[in-house]
Parts: sequence; structure tokens; C-alpha cells
Amino acid sequence: MSLTRLTIDDLRCIQRAELELHPRLNLFVGANGSGKTSLLEAVYCLGRGRSFRSRRLATLVRKGAECLRVVGEARLQGQTVTLGLEARAGETRLKARGATAASAAALAEYHRPQVIDPDIHKLLEEGPGRRRRYLDWGVFHVEPLFLATWQRYHRAIKQRNAVLRARGADPLLRAWEEEVSVAGEALSLQRLEYLGRLEPVLREVGERLLGAAITLDYTRGWTSKGTLAEALRADEDRDRRFGITHSGPHRADVTTRVDGVAARDRVSRGQQKMLAAALVLAQLKAQGEGHGAGDVLLLDDPAAELDAHHLGRLLELVADLPAQLWVTSLAGQVPGLAAEGAMFHVEHGRIRPTATA
Ligand SMILES: Nc1ncnc2c1ncn2[C@@H]1O[C@H](COP(=O)(O)OP(=O)(O)O)[C@@H](O)[C@H]1O
Ligand SMILES: [Mg+2]
Repeated sequence: MSLTRLTIDDLRCIQRAELELHPRLNLFVGANGSGKTSLLEAVYCLGRGRSFRSRRLATLVRKGAECLRVVGEARLQGQTVTLGLEARAGETRLKARGATAASAAALAEYHRPQVIDPDIHKLLEEGPGRRRRYLDWGVFHVEPLFLATWQRYHRAIKQRNAVLRARGADPLLRAWEEEVSVAGEALSLQRLEYLGRLEPVLREVGERLLGAAITLDYTRGWTSKGTLAEALRADEDRDRRFGITHSGPHRADVTTRVDGVAARDRVSRGQQKMLAAALVLAQLKAQGEGHGAGDVLLLDDPAAELDAHHLGRLLELVADLPAQLWVTSLAGQVPGLAAEGAMFHVEHGRIRPTATA
């Protein structure tokens, strides 16, 4: 499954684009600043409800326009599935199969975009927030209960923090503590089960991409060896002082080792990019079938980012994935990329099909 059509209105420098897509490979060629990454952002937003370049969707609205709109079509068991996203300052509207969707989760059931872009190394370099999002995206696609657990946990944390800040009575705090710990333990378990499933795939991908053994360490977000309930109880004075909950899976992290050595300390920027790419590709491989969802891999200017050797390995691996590829490039061709597909030219925010790639 893949996107067959995409229309974009007023997203960054793209005023209007209407694309008919190749099921396997779509190559977008254009100069710097022509709108290639903006196009990939549109595809990404449609499944994730957010961009990979900015936190707020409203910043993507074209200057002078009021709202941006992205509509995608995919084929699912002979039927056309339409997904839509509309964003303006302070408001985002999502639609899946004609119905209003409360969150991007409803879109992600049909369209699962992953991106490897020039900032991919931030997954390893920056704080744990990105890595938790990475992890949770993966769990969401294999564990049907995950979304409900995640929402229940975050609601409970919000309520407990509100009680802490209002200096609420002990019994009230205990009640939310109970809820936080039940939902938090469940969330943690679901993440661990997912990691167990991801790890063998990651080993294989790491071997092919880096010739090294990649392993992951999950820290669950509380320091004590005991239960989350025990950690919450031990933290109570400090939590009351600061008005926030210090322990729990909202503080979890997942770190990477290469041949047993912590990646953050030892790996060069170039290797970090490959390592982060391995994480993304392994996740895509481990994602499973879902509802027959379409896996879409966005490769933003891979030829500029990776040396020929690493690019070759990456594209070889990507060729085996059952995903639709969207690749951008400054030059006409990307060495090592399959020949069969569609090619588009991007100029000043206009995207036009050229000859077959
Ligand atoms: N909100 C916006 N409204 C209009 N133009 C924008 C907006 N945000 C960014 N741009 C412009 O969009 C252009 C396209 O950028 P980008 O997609 O990064 O191009 P490429 O990836 O091809 O180098 C840039 O010139 C940038 O100035
Ligand atoms: Mg770009």
C-alpha cells in the first residue's frame, strides 16, 4: 500500500501541488530552496500530525495564506482511502476515510511515514524526547492497547501534577499515584515487549548497514529497583516542592550501543547518521502489517548526506523494504537508486512530473 495521489495547498513555498505517484519510487529533483523538503513535510504531516522540521504546524502555513491543506489517497483492498489535514494558527483538523479524526493516530493506521533527513543524527544526540517519540511510534503500530494506555498515563500524570501544584490533600494525591503507577507500569511493559521484537531486526539491519552489532538499553524513567508506585512514594516531598512528577515512563529513554560501546560517546557524526538511519529502517521493517497500512519512507537528499559507500549500503537495504520511497536530490540521479519510478522537477514551490526516472 502506498499513496497514489497527493494534493497540497499553501504549505511553505508550495502554493498548490497535485501529484500522481508511483507505488514504489518517486524522485524529486530541484535546487536548494525549491521546496523539496517542504513536500516531504507534507507527506510526513499526513500520517504523524506534525512535521519533522518544526514543532508547530502553523509555521508551515505559506506566508500570506490562512491555512495549509494536505490530502492524500491510498488504495486499500481495492478501495480508495482518503486522508486529510488542515492546519491554521491554533487549530488542526484531521480526516480519515471521510470522518473527522480526533488525533493523528487515525491517519497513521493507513499511512505510516518514516523520514531520514539531514537532522537524523539528532535522534541520538539530543534529549530523550525524540527517542521516546521514536519508540512510541513503533509500539503504537504493534500493540493495539498502546494508544489507550499512553493516553491514560498522560492524563493521570497531568492530574497528579495539578494536585501537586494545588497542594492537594494526601488521599487525593494517593488516588492519582495509583492511577499513574498502574498505567505507567503497563506502558513500560508494552515498550519493553516492543523492544524485544525490534532488537533482532535491528541487529540484522546494523550488520548490513554498519557491519556492527547495534543494541538498545531502555531506562524506564524511575531510578529505584522497585515498582513505579514505590518510586512515586519516595519522590513525594520533592514532587510537591517542584509541582511535577519526576519518576515514570514520561522520563524514559532508550540508548544505543555499537559493539557494546555507548553510541553517544564514541561514534562520529557520519556514523551517527548511519546509526540513526538503522534505527528508522529497523522500525519500518518491524512495523508489521497493521490494517494494511502503507509504509512510506522519505529520504531527504541522501546523496548529500552520506558518502558513496554508506549511501550504497543504505539504498541496497531500502530496496528490500516493502515501502514507497520519496527521495529528494539536487542532481538528476541518485547513484544506486532503482531505475524504475517517477521523477519530478521542483522549482520555486512548483512540482511537475518529468520523464520516467
Ligand atoms: N511559511 C512559509 N511560507 C512561504 N515560504 C516559506 C515558508 N517556510 C519556508 N519557506 C520557504 O520555502 C522554501 C523551500 O524550502 P525547502 O523545502 O527547505 O527547499 P529545499 O528542500 O528544496 O531546499 C525556502 O526558500 C523557504 O524560504
Ligand atoms: Mg531540503
